[in-house]
Amino acid sequence: MKIGLLTGGGDAPGLNAVIRAITVKAVKKGHEVIGFKRGWKGALEKEFEKLTPKKVEDIHRQGGTILGSSRTNVAKVENGFQIVKNNFAELGIDVLVAIGGDDTLGVAKQLHDAGGKVIGVPKTIDNDLSATDYTFGFDTAINRAAEALDRLHTTAKSHHRVFVVELMGRDAGWVALHGGIAGGAHIILIPEEPFNTDEVCRMIEKRHSAGHVYTIVAVAEGAMDPKLASRVMRFEQKDEFGHVQLSKGIGVAEALASVIEEHTGLETRSMVLGHLQRGGEPSAFDRVLGTRLGLKVVDLIEEGKYGYMASLRGSEIKAVPLADAVGAVKKVTPERYEEAKIFFG
Ligand code: F6P
Repeated sequence: MKIGLLTGGGDAPGLNAVIRAITVKAVKKGHEVIGFKRGWKGALEKEFEKLTPKKVEDIHRQGGTILGSSRTNVAKVENGFQIVKNNFAELGIDVLVAIGGDDTLGVAKQLHDAGGKVIGVPKTIDNDLSATDYTFGFDTAINRAAEALDRLHTTAKSHHRVFVVELMGRDAGWVALHGGIAGGAHIILIPEEPFNTDEVCRMIEKRHSAGHVYTIVAVAEGAMDPKLASRVMRFEQKDEFGHVQLSKGIGVAEALASVIEEHTGLETRSMVLGHLQRGGEPSAFDRVLGTRLGLKVVDLIEEGKYGYMASLRGSEIKAVPLADAVGAVKKVTPERYEEAKIFFG
């Protein structure tokens, strides 16, 4: 069989492990593999390269994706799905493996519904995809977040400051929750629970009057107190999937830090960890998860399980319908947030 691969959306450490595993196993089993460049853009524009075990040797240790990525939305292109199908017919592609998050897999599902043979692999550092327990990239991201918070503790303590650290997570606060717990944040704010800035200020004041000299607040980029909205300056232009680009402009951390300083009189700094959470080499966990998902994909291809994705369920890699993965973000549950709240203040 001739297998096409693509990686779409925000990159996530572990993508190269998936590409490597699919290529090595598929070629060993007599298949041919090509990789489309920059996600759906490459599938639309027939930009691709042949993948061989030699080409992918050792890439599982590298961050990013050797194929490149983009947020191209086939549904936004006139006759987009037909163009992709025609290109696949011309190139002799039997099946496409789409590696991505909700947006990329949403397009994969639409292509499947339009008669294309597609298999998915879930990916996002945000860990907010349904029908999978964890996504690769998340473990690396929370380790980066925890390491950053660890470092901020020492400087915040030395200067008796409040630090507000913005972590990724547009619709779900998994990175802030897990990074914040691991890094010992004193307050964690997530998109699932709109917060009240006055209450945050009270919590900080109480903590400082109890003798603590510094505070670390971990806030997900999508967390919001409506009263802060006038201080946040979002970039107007949305991406091709209609998302506000939270990584551009003035975000919630800066807005919150300025109010904390005004209300409490405590010296406050904000920082946005941003793409440092996503860049660089994957953790061992993400390398292994990416590898196992990639190996499973080759089984799904041989079984003809089109319209499915490889997914982590407990400790097993299973096949789940793409339809179960897309459309509904996996949110932090109130119970999980309650666990974190025990350590607030
Ligand atoms: O989708 C993953 C993600 O890292 C989000 O957490 C974040 O909001 C977004 O990508 C950033 O996108 P970009 O790289 O396009 O700025």
